Amino acid sequence: MSKHLIHLTVNGKEHELTVASNELLLNVLRDRLYLTGSKYGCGVGDCGACSILHGDESVLSCLVLAVEADGWDITTVEGLADGDQLNPVQQAFLDNSAVQCGFCVPGMVITSTALLRENDDPSEAEIKDYLRGNYCRCTGYVAMIKSVMDAAAKMRGE
Ligand code: FES
Ligand code: FES
Repeated sequence: MSKHLIHLTVNGKEHELTVASNELLLNVLRDRLYLTGSKYGCGVGDCGACSILHGDESVLSCLVLAVEADGWDITTVEGLADGDQLNPVQQAFLDNSAVQCGFCVPGMVITSTALLRENDDPSEAEIKDYLRGNYCRCTGYVAMIKSVMDAAAKMRGE
């Protein structure tokens, strides 16, 4: 197995890592950088639990080889808060009791954050469509969609 030197910026911190050619970005984040917020759900792109931000775009980190991510600027769920200040989506999830077992929540919050960076006033239908790749086994979708709408309103200053 060939080895490759890569550079990642993760949550504002730079990392230089030697990775195997078949190593998944998700596993590098979890097992090498100990950022275990991103979850290994299905491992094949079906559940959204491994979602991270690449710049402002939500990406499934189980479908990305670490070598492909060389040079990426990544934000994981651990990097969303500003000190003790949760980001608006995180705070809205808490306020709406939108967390049950919590397994899907990092991915939901990441993908919702990407949506609100693109569109600060999404309709309920647009939220459902954007989150269609993120599954919640606890089926807490109603509270999650309300959380995204509340976070959007807060970000608009309403
Ligand atoms: S673990 Fe990546 S989509 Fe399920
Ligand atoms: S809160 Fe349990 S899977 Fe979503």
